[in-house]
This record gives sequence, structure tokens and C-alpha cells, in this order.
Amino acid sequence: MRLPSLYTSFFPLLTLLGLSTLVSALGTSCSAPVTSGTAAASAPFWLEQIQHQGSAPFNPNPSGYQVFRNVKNFGAKGDGVTDDTAAINAAISSGNRCGNGCGQSSVSPAVVYFPAGTYLVSSPVISYYYTQLIGDAKHVPTIIASANFQGIAIIDADPGWYVNQNNFYHSIRNFILDTSRIPASTSGTGIHWQVSQATSLINIVFQMSTAAGNAHQGIWMENGSGGYMGDLVFNGGKFGMWVGNQQFTVRNITINNAQIGVFGLWNWGWTFQGVTINNCQIGFQLTTGGTTQDNQGVGGEAIIDVVATNTPTFVQFTQPSDGSLHGALVLNNIKLNNVPTAVGVANGATLLSGGTTTINSWAQGNVYTGTNSGGQFIQSGINAISKDGSLLDSAGRIFGKTHPQYANYAPDQFISVKSQGAKGDGQTDDTAAIQNVLNQFSGCKIIFFDAGVYVVTNTITIPAGTQIVGEAWSTILGSGSAFTDYNNPRPVIQAGTAGSTGVLEITDMIFSTRGPAAGAVVVEWNVHDPAGQQGAAGTWDTHIILGGKDGTNLQASQCPTSTSTGNNNCFAAFLGLHLTAQSSAYLEGLWVWTADHDLDSGPQLNLWTGRGIMSESQGPVWLIGTASEHAIIYQYYLNNAKNHYMGLIQTETPYFQPNPVPPAPFITNTAYKDPAFGPGAAWALTVTNSQNILVYGAGLYSFFQNYGQDCLNTFNCQQQIVNVDSSSSIAIYLLSTVASQYQISVNSQGIVPNSANRNGFAQTLTSWTRT
Ligand SMILES: *[C@@H]1O[C@H](CO)[C@@H](O)[C@H](O)[C@H]1NC(C)=O
Ligand SMILES: *[C@@H]1O[C@H](CO)[C@@H](O)[C@H](O)[C@H]1NC(C)=O
Repeated sequence: MRLPSLYTSFFPLLTLLGLSTLVSALGTSCSAPVTSGTAAASAPFWLEQIQHQGSAPFNPNPSGYQVFRNVKNFGAKGDGVTDDTAAINAAISSGNRCGNGCGQSSVSPAVVYFPAGTYLVSSPVISYYYTQLIGDAKHVPTIIASANFQGIAIIDADPGWYVNQNNFYHSIRNFILDTSRIPASTSGTGIHWQVSQATSLINIVFQMSTAAGNAHQGIWMENGSGGYMGDLVFNGGKFGMWVGNQQFTVRNITINNAQIGVFGLWNWGWTFQGVTINNCQIGFQLTTGGTTQDNQGVGGEAIIDVVATNTPTFVQFTQPSDGSLHGALVLNNIKLNNVPTAVGVANGATLLSGGTTTINSWAQGNVYTGTNSGGQFIQSGINAISKDGSLLDSAGRIFGKTHPQYANYAPDQFISVKSQGAKGDGQTDDTAAIQNVLNQFSGCKIIFFDAGVYVVTNTITIPAGTQIVGEAWSTILGSGSAFTDYNNPRPVIQAGTAGSTGVLEITDMIFSTRGPAAGAVVVEWNVHDPAGQQGAAGTWDTHIILGGKDGTNLQASQCPTSTSTGNNNCFAAFLGLHLTAQSSAYLEGLWVWTADHDLDSGPQLNLWTGRGIMSESQGPVWLIGTASEHAIIYQYYLNNAKNHYMGLIQTETPYFQPNPVPPAPFITNTAYKDPAFGPGAAWALTVTNSQNILVYGAGLYSFFQNYGQDCLNTFNCQQQIVNVDSSSSIAIYLLSTVASQYQISVNSQGIVPNSANRNGFAQTLTSWTRT
């Protein structure tokens, strides 16, 4: 064996460890680990150059359907002069995809790629359902609106074609969106983003008018149920972001020279993490005063880690809060430089004065502690929010890590699973082919899962040291008898083994099952970050999706809402995601969804997934923009866990409960330490024997009782929804629940009744802490 030249400088260390230790630590026979990119600076992004073999096996035309589309192959010039609108939209729409009149579909995924260049458009680029729009990550392309641009925005994710709460699977990354030629007096807009779960905006610069009094806006969003966005820069404009959506997580944004950085129209709760504001008039302007669903205002905002400079007002409410909530606010670690008003009311009182200062922790709304059911309305400083050091970066902020895109890597640093014999055709058993690729190339190459549906019939083990990239959410589908016994649960994906440490990066994948799968632990996560490498083990834009689409055998035709518990064919999984005791995890943009309706045929359906996300990790764990919906016993369960940051978390209870009452149709599993059940319905969040848990934004919803919605009017679709047992140093900020009689329980006893916190459609408490 030849010693790779890369390692000669480490020779003394190698001798000490023995070369075999190094090799086995990588878990593969890999002799030249990928540690950095080798692409020439001028070379295009690897995604442009690799062989394109992605497929959509359940498309009506699987052999002809093209997943990867380069806009230049559809006639776009990218020369800044030619009008490329029609060519770009042809690249997106070709292949009879899910556009106007379709509503939703899982069978026509697309990656629409933009090489370096400047693309002139005169009307919107329409982002169809199940589309990733990706620019060259090395030489980020610009899409510029012409001076006579007509339409809602440069990119439109919903021209009224999709249901706002069901507009899943959109991602846009690596663009400069330039509205600066659009007349300053009109509302030139970068992105119309009316979207829901499994959506992201990543690495986008919005270049807007800088004229005084201009009307431009970076993002315009009136509705939806998102979602994650991050690494965004807004320059100029009237509004950086003008936004209304049930809930969202926003990480790492910079807003320069806008009149209003973020305008909040309505929400049930949003989390902003890592915000830089320079030279705006107002940082956040939040619509408040609405008291019903019809004029719902901003239910609340949780804002953490901010630097705001030369901006007269940081947060402004449009109406004062009269004590009946409306506009819950939790601020933490807010650095102000020349910001005279920290929090105020338009034409009204200053609630917190600013200056050049740091605000540790401040809140507006009802606060609770421990088992005291009486809340106190405050507009004042609160105890410093406790954050374990393992969760913070070197500047003392919550650590964040951008979706890895391997911009500087060369095409030959990737290996395609299809080139290595996996079929991804939704039929062939790809277990051996995939495991072979991992065993052979993990750590040597970045492993590319060409778009497709890969059926596996046994556990796939992903060694620590692996980097996996999917294409428009390439899907691994656990299928067959290995995964059917709920008395013997087994992982479909096993990420590392107990005690393993290393890099493990997974992006743009879906992990799933083909029913029946009562014994599937869809992902078991065991890897821990190596010392000194925060966030080395994580997933980005990667989801666990169960049923409700072609190929899963868990569809509305098989499992209609009338399905009774005797039907064993409707078991979708035992557990979605298990973070084991020795793991750490950075999970950004993760949706664990048991389908409540069928994307390919429409109707609601009954599926049985026992459990959503279970964590026994000692941390650090970052759950940034995550959601877990419709599992039977719990959506999030922390057991003997430590050092978690969770913001924002979103859940829904199964629509069929309490018919049956959990754990039915499962039974209690002691090996997986199933918690005690809430009366009649799933826990959204249950925490046992855990410490240092910080929830910074939660939207936990119960919309149905046995498919009926009358309980929304009486605010009691279920009795309890969050439970904390025997745990300490637990804090939940900005908790919005819907229709759970109690918002917080301790030792399964309801503590905070929702009647105290009605706030439009949701019920919102600003903080609950237990030391
Ligand atoms: C958002 O959706 C709700 C419910 O569908 C609707 O009543 C409301 O008008 C929408 N808001 C906007 C600004 O479109
Ligand atoms: C924040 O976003 C900017 C702009 O995209 C990027 O350069 C920076 O690396 C990001 N920082 C983090 C911590 O993600």
C-alpha cells in the first residue's frame, strides 16, 4: 500500500496511530480521503459537469422524463441582453410537469440549473411544484428583471396554482436576483414565496432599488406553512422581507439599506436566528392588534443573535399589546449600534430604549415557570436565556452551518451510485449496490445519488466519514419483510455505529418506506462530531417522508380514511428518526412527515407511524427549521437528552386520533422507552430526564378529532400536547399551540390552559421555563 502523499506530513502521527487505525477510522478501503476541493477556480460548478442520470421512475413516461435541465440547453443565453424568460420557463415546465391545474404530485421532480451568467427576464420564472432551481455555486448567476418587467416577482413559487399549506418541495439556491431596473415606484419583487414544508431558500442576494422612497421588496409571502430559509442578503428596497406564513425558521440574513428590514403581516410563530441589519429605518415591523383568524396579525417572533446598526428602531409593533397578547416577542443577544429605540409601538410608546448596547434577553407576553399555572404579562427583561457552550460558535451565537454544496470540488471527486450499478428504478433491490458504493468510496468520494427511487430490503449502513448528495430529493425506500415487525424494529438507514465520530453530511435526500413497514426505524443516527468540528455530522434539506405517493403502497387507495386498525398494510414506520445516546446532530430543514393526504391522488388517508423523532443525544443537537407530523405516540421525544437547541419546531397530531387512542395500533415498546401517552392523542413534544434543552420557537397544532374540526371552535381537539417529566434547565420560548386544552403539562398534569393565551388562531405563550 502506497502512503498517500497527502499524509506524508502527518507521518509521525501516523506511525503513532498505525496506518491501519487511520484506514479503519475511515471505515473503508479509501486511500485518498476527500478533504478539500480540487476544481480549478475558473471551472464550472461540478453539478454542471457530471453525467446526468437522474430519473423519475413513477412518472407516466419514465424513460423519456428528464430530471436535470440546464437552462442553456433550452435556449437561455445568460448574456444579460437576450430575454431568457421563455427559455427558462421551458426548462422548468418541459416533460408535462406539475403546473397549472395539477395541484401536487411526487412524480415529476426537476433540478433546473443555471450556469454562470446574467439572465434577463421580463416576467416571472415560475418555480413548479417539486423543483430545485440551482445556480452555479462557484460563479453565482444573476437573474435580472428588465425595466418593463410585468408580474409578481422574478421567481414565483405559486401563481395561484397550489394550495398554500400544501406547496411542498421547492428549493432555490445560489442566485443574485436583481430588481434594480424595475421602476422604483413599483413593487419590484425578488421572490414570491407562498410555500410550505420541504422548502428552502439558500445563498441568495437580493439587489433592489436604492432610490429614496422606492417600493421594492426582496421576498413577498402572504401565506403558507413553511419552511426554512437562510444565508440571504438584501440590499436596498422598501422591504427586505414582507412575510405572512404560519411558521418559518430564518437563519443568517443580512439586510442593508432597506426602509423596513422585515415586515411581518401575520404568523403563528417565526424564529429568526443570526440577523444583521444595517442602515434601515426599522428592523422588524410587526402587524399587531388582530384578534381573530380573519385579521390574524403576528402571533409572535423569537429573534436571537442580532447585530443592528444605524437603524432608528429595531422592533416596531403596529399596535400596542393590551395584555391579551398579540405580538409575543422574545429577544436574545441583540447588539445595537446607534439604534435609539429597541422596541416600540408605531406612533406610541417606547417599550425598550436602545442606543449602543447589548440586550441579553427581553420579552413581551405571558410568561410561566414550573408548575405555576398563573402567567404574568410582561414587557421587560427576562432572566438570561441559558445556552450550553457546545451549541455556540466562537462569537457566542447559536452555531449555524450552511447546506454543503462542495462548490470547489471537481466532478471526479464525486461517484454516482447509478454508475456503480444501483438502479433507482423503484423496483430493483439496490441494497447490495448501495452498500458496496458506501463501503468502497465513503470518505474517498462524495457519493451522488442520481435522482431516483432506490428500493432497499435490508439496513444500509453509512459509515462516519461519508458525504452524500441527492438530486431533487433522491429517495431510499425501505421495503420488505425486514421492516414489518414492530416487535423487532430495524433501521432502514443506519448512520454510523454506536460511538463512531466523523464527518457525515447528507443533503437533498428523502428516506422513506414501502408499506407495510411497522418495524422500520427509518433513520438511526449514531455519529458524533469529531472534537473541534461543530456541525460535522448533519443533514440539510433532507426529509423522512412516509406514504402518500406512488411507489409506497401507502396511498389513499390502499389506506383510505375509513381504514380500521385491523389493517396491517397501513403501517408506515415504527420510528422516523432516532438520535442515539452517543450522537450529535445538526439538522437543518428536516421534515418528518407521515402523509395526511396523497400527493398523487389527492384525498386524505390513514397511515400508522408509531413515533416521529426520538433523541437520547447528549448533544450538541441543533434542530433548525424542523417539523414532525402525524406520528401516533409523539412527534418529538427527548429522553435522557442534553444540550439541544430547537428552533422553530412544528408539529401536527394525526387527524384520526382519538380513533384509535395511542399507542394503538402499535403497542408500547420498552426498548425504545415509550413515554406515557397524553390522553387520547399524540404528544407534540415530550421531555423526560433531560437537561439544557432550549426550544426557541414552537408551533404545535391539533386541528382535528377523528377528522372533525368542530373542536377548533372549542379549542380542545386534544387535552395535552407538551409534557416535561423529571427534567431540569428546560426552556420553551414562543410556544404557539392550536386547540390543545393545556399548552404545557408537567408529569402529565396540565399546567397552562390555552384559555389564558388566545392569540388569533393559535394560543401563544411567550415563555415557560423550569430551572
Ligand atoms: C391567507 O390565507 C387565508 C386562508 O386561506 C386567507 O383568508 C387570507 O386572505 C390569505 N392572506 C393573504 C394575504 O392572501
Ligand atoms: C451567512 O450567509 C453569508 C451570505 O450567504 C455567508 O457568506 C456566510 O458564510 C453565512 N454564515 C453562516 C454562519 O452560515
